[in-house]
Amino acid sequence: MRTKIVAGNWKMHKNAEETEDLLNELINKLPNDKEVQIIVAPTFINLASAVEHLEFTNIGVAAQNMHQAENGAYTGEISADMLQSVGVNTVILGHSERRAYFGETDAIISFKVDTAIKHNMSVIFCFGEELKDRQDKQHFNIVENQLRDGLFHLDKTSWENIVLAYEPVWAIGTGETASPEQAQEMHEFIRETVRKSYGNDIADNVSILYGGSVKPDNAKEIFGKPDVDGGLIGGAALKADDFAAIINAI
Ligand code: PGA
Repeated sequence: MRTKIVAGNWKMHKNAEETEDLLNELINKLPNDKEVQIIVAPTFINLASAVEHLEFTNIGVAAQNMHQAENGAYTGEISADMLQSVGVNTVILGHSERRAYFGETDAIISFKVDTAIKHNMSVIFCFGEELKDRQDKQHFNIVENQLRDGLFHLDKTSWENIVLAYEPVWAIGTGETASPEQAQEMHEFIRETVRKSYGNDIADNVSILYGGSVKPDNAKEIFGKPDVDGGLIGGAALKADDFAAIINAI
């Protein structure tokens, strides 16, 4: 069954106290009667407290990144085992900010995916074209290659752990959203690309989230499209009222 998901990527926002405050607000304001999986991704140092805080709620916790190695001399990095040791079993991988500012290539991201799968973690796999790619009409090629290089070596069973998050880079944090039609066109293409390699079962069941300037006033239209199964929300996930409104738009 294709699951509806709304995930909030908090990026490098909210210290310990602010994290707790926002979590308390979310507990009070987010709906708990909807058929939607709700996830928040605070910063690494606040993950353990977030897991504790949200224990008896319907809100799950994800990490924004992790290292591909099991452990070792990788100063400043966090491993899958470390995440799991504090109760985090979902990780966002391949976010465009990781690709652009931290040099993460498709090969590195693919390695990270393998490590996460080995640990039976769920992966929210992010990908999407830049503005220039779209202007050059290369967006379908770019997206197909990111999918192939990052994920298409996986066996069929591993796909149970994969959620796709299409995030056109030109729409992230810019206030510029893909139109609902552009989102649907790409999501349909993504699903058909998965279908060609993995068949109907996986293509019909994989959740494909849209990310990039989703706000309360555009969420309903975007989520209304048949191949859009929810969203990965940045800026608007930092305000409890906005995040609640976006979830209610599903
Ligand atoms: P945005 O970020 O909603 O602020 O555009 C989305 C994301 O980067 O996941």
